[in-house]
Formats: sequence, C-alpha cells, structure tokens
Amino acid sequence: MIAKSFLIRVLLVCSIISGFNSLKAQNAMINITARHCTSLDGKWQIIIDPTGAGDWRQVWQERKPEKKTDFIEYSFDGGPVLNVPGDFNTQMTELKYYEGTVWYKKSFNFKSTGNKRLFLHFGAVNYLASVYLNGNLIGTHEGGFTPFHFEITGIVKSGVNTVIVRVNNQRQKDGIPGLGYDWFNYGGITRDVNLVETNSTFISDYFIQLGKHSLKEVNGRVKLDGMNLSQNITIRIPELKVDYKTRSDGEGLSEIKFDSYFKLWSPENPKLYRVIIQSETDTIYDEIGFRSISTQGPKILLNGKQIFLKGINIHEENPLKAARAYSASDALTLLKWAKELGCNMVRLAHYPHNENMIKSAEKLGIMVWDEIPVYQQIEFSAPGVSEKMDLMMREMVSRDKNRCGVIIWSLSNETNSSPERDKALINLTDKCRKLDSTRLVTSVINDESYDNNFVNVWDTLYRHFDIISFNEYLGWYVPWQGKSTDVKWKFISDNKPVVITEFGGEAVFGNNIGPKDEASSWREEYQEQIYKDQVAMFRTIPNLSGVFPWLLADYRSSGRMHPVYQKGWNRKGLLSDKGEKKKAWYILKSYYDTINNIY
Ligand code: GCU
Repeated sequence: MIAKSFLIRVLLVCSIISGFNSLKAQNAMINITARHCTSLDGKWQIIIDPTGAGDWRQVWQERKPEKKTDFIEYSFDGGPVLNVPGDFNTQMTELKYYEGTVWYKKSFNFKSTGNKRLFLHFGAVNYLASVYLNGNLIGTHEGGFTPFHFEITGIVKSGVNTVIVRVNNQRQKDGIPGLGYDWFNYGGITRDVNLVETNSTFISDYFIQLGKHSLKEVNGRVKLDGMNLSQNITIRIPELKVDYKTRSDGEGLSEIKFDSYFKLWSPENPKLYRVIIQSETDTIYDEIGFRSISTQGPKILLNGKQIFLKGINIHEENPLKAARAYSASDALTLLKWAKELGCNMVRLAHYPHNENMIKSAEKLGIMVWDEIPVYQQIEFSAPGVSEKMDLMMREMVSRDKNRCGVIIWSLSNETNSSPERDKALINLTDKCRKLDSTRLVTSVINDESYDNNFVNVWDTLYRHFDIISFNEYLGWYVPWQGKSTDVKWKFISDNKPVVITEFGGEAVFGNNIGPKDEASSWREEYQEQIYKDQVAMFRTIPNLSGVFPWLLADYRSSGRMHPVYQKGWNRKGLLSDKGEKKKAWYILKSYYDTINNIY
C-alpha cells in the first residue's frame, strides 16, 4: 500500500515539476501601464503547506466530498486569508521565518466583452509560482522580483473563475539567488495581480528612448501581438507636436526613428512627456523622459555632461513596517530619505524593485541602478542556470527599458571568480547590450586585493563592462593598513569610470555603551569614523565617478544574529529601522553637499 500510493505521490510531484519547466511564463512582455486592468489584489484565501502534501493531494482540484464515506483533508474555506500584494512572513506569526509552500486562492467573475484577449499578470511572486485556473495548470514562473503573465483567453469561462497559485519561497541551490543571501527571504505574492484585457491584436511591447549618444533622436521600436500584425503605427507627443507615423511589418514590428527638441531629463529637471503609442487596434499612454547616458574614458556623461553618482543602496523593505515594500507610499518613504541625504541616484539592491519604486524615483529626479540577483554563490555551470539568468535579465530590461531614470543595468553582485562565471557573465552582458544599447551595463565585483594600503582592482571581467564597480569594506570587514588618505590604487583599466558600489559598517542607533573605537561596541562613533575615513579616501581615487554607501536604512537579514545589537537586522543603515539618523548620516550628507551634480 505505502509503495503504491507513494508511487502515485512521486508521479504527481514529477508531473508538477515537469509542468514547471513546460508551461513557463510567456516571454512577450505586456506593459500593463495604462491598460484596462481588473485588479485581483486584496484578500486571498490560503493553505499553508509545510510538507508539500498539497502537491500529491492536488489542492488545485479543490475536491469536495461526494459520498458519505468521503473526506477531503484540505480546503480553502474556513482557512486563513492573506493580503495581496504583500509578503506572507509578516502577516501571520506562524509564517515569520517560513520558507515553504503556501497555496493562494482568488475567485473572480468574468463577463466576456466580445473579441478580446485576457491575460493574468503578476508583478512578482517569490520565488516559485505554479498558477492554476479553474483547476488547470496554466503556467509556472521562477524568480521573485520580476513580472510574468499567462494568456487565459479561451481558458477563462463566463461567470466565476478560480485562480490558485502554489507559491514556494524555499531557497534553491541552482536558484537566482542561490542558497545564501544577506536579506530577508520574504515569500508570497509580493506585488500586484491584474487581469489585463486587450484587443485581439495589441501593442505587446514598445521602446521609446533616445538613441545612444543622441540628445534629440529617438531610436526605438513598437511590437504588435495578434493576427493583424501589419498596421499603421503613430507615436504622438502632443507637448512637442510630435506626430510620427510608420507601419509595422508582417511580424508586427516597427522601427521608430524621429528627432525632436526635448527638455532632457536630469536630477535637476526630471521632465517627463506624455507619449501616446497608437496602432489601428490599440492605444497606450506612458509618461516618458528622454536623456542620454554614456561614458567617455573615465567619465560618466548624462546628456553629454560629466556627472558624479551620489548614490545610496536600498533594499526593497520598508523598515518602519519591517516588511517587503511594494506600494507607492513605501517608495516615497525610502526615496524621500535618499533625497534628504543629498543623493542623485539609488542602487536598488540586489534585485529589480517594484515599479512604484522605479517610477517614483524617475519623477523625483533620482537615477536608478537596476540589478538582477545573480548574487555571491551561484551555480553557474548547473543545468538551466544561465537560462534563468537570461530570463531575469530580459524581464528586468523589458519592464524598465522606457524608464529614463534607469541608467545602469547590473547583472550580478560579488560572484566568485571562475571561468564558468566569466563565461556566463560575458554572455549575459552581450545579450543585455543587444536588448538595450542605450544604457551602461556592469556587474559588481569584490575580489580586489588590499596589501600594504594598496588596492588592486584587477578582475579582467571589467573589460566587458562600461564601468568598474566594486564593493570595499575598508574599516569594517577589512581593517585599514594605513591612513585612508594614503591608500594607493591600481585598476584593470585607467580609461573607465570607477564606482564604489558598497562601503560602510554597522552601528546601533543611540547605543553609547562600550569603547567608541571598537567595532564590537556597535557604536555610531565607529561607523561615523568609517565614513570620515572613506570620504577622505574618495579624494585619492583616480577616475572616481560615484559612490554608493551600504546602505540607507537597517534592514532584516536572518543571518545577522547578535542578540543585543542585530536581532536579525543588518545594522549598516545610515538610518535605524525607525528612520533615526545615525552620526554617519551627517558625514555623508555634508560630503554630498560639497559635490555639484554636474561638473
Ligand atoms: C556585501 C553584499 C551585501 C551585504 C553586505 C554586508 O557586500 O553585497 O549584500 O549585505 O556586504 O555584508 O552587509
């Protein structure tokens, strides 16, 4: 008996996994901005499934007892509910540190409005998602920080429909990220869920940005999806009297090329234009800014002028809620702090944050560093890993390519040097450039050497990137080997901009116990001294074009286990988890106040 039912269980689990690979999310991106959407946000019924029994019980079938002797050992009815969007860890105490499966259920009423198509769109689900509609698996997705959707035209029925999502946030050895990462593993349906209705042929993708090195020529494309692919396409920017006309080819693709005199987007003037993209069967509106970003030898140029990146690292967490951030108000909380600090840029670590963050930053004149979580230990040579990296990069670029605030694509952080790594990242960098040649592309490395107060940033991988971006924790993980102003530098290239993407140290706000000059006191003075030394050192670094302290605010990370000072929080914030300014905040602010944005 055990054998047989065990076999059925194994077969069932295998079918789920094979289903996982076969019914992957659709690649054609759908930009849901300005589309007719029905939100499925709100309360979702759930089943918490720590053993994975829901897989062999086939929870998505929602079986009901039929005869007197029947009993079903699961049901959504009578069970707990969770808010979507939102991580599940902070909504129920028993889920605080949970890493496993949670089944979500939502029903919606559908009334067909004629010859339309319907898509089920997720802003993000961490980490694995299997999506069922009316008991049928419609698709799967892997990756916790990028959008995906499934077309349900022809599957959806008139009347009540039920969506069930199997969400699993267990760490995966061959995952992106892998098993270890220094942030809290918030699981769940963490961003908005929408039903997106379109005409049978619709605008499935568009890229409207200035061409590389151009201050006035738009060089883009529009893509149609559907049966009627060859159509008249119009791009209108009423404020500039732009009324550009072209025609899509048999594949539904149209190249867009026109000039105009734009007020260029910049931190000082974050100008956005209302852009109307129209085909014969569809119209999209978007607020788009136009700017050029490039490098010239060791300089970074914004709109042709040299710029210094006054950055800060941010995790997608609202410390005041100690939860995964997702809303426009979460974004404003974080970005207003960054503005107050004097920043003109934010590095959204280490994964694509929600669209509210990207769009709010753009409106506030804050440039954005967008990164995928190819983080530290990655199984580069394991089967399927490069495909996952590729898909995540495509999902990030496709979602954010019309956001002019995004100036840098970052494809990894602190991965260990190896031939497999180099090959995978060089490949991915080339693919990213093919998708978007208008932005800077890089990866963050931290294998520089430090001997006798001499830093050698040697990694040859930098040759493939537009900037040299590295993390250094001199004064914290790495004790100084001399005065910070005497540090000597060598870079793999003297003809690339240098950006320090992380530096800093920990401190507990208001803690004044223990010697000020000892790291283990977790006192603000120690962190403050690190910042004083770092800022003094910055003046010695050739070609320095930007710095990004680690980081804006204390954030949750279960690996930070000191019971008095950390309690599961990384305390490297310049702000405490209550938004209180630590002494180091003022050191950085006064440094940024001395730097003009453009020089
Ligand atoms: C690393 C890493 C961060 C981490 C930080 C730290 O450099 O990139 O993700 O949180 O160091 O140790 O605090």
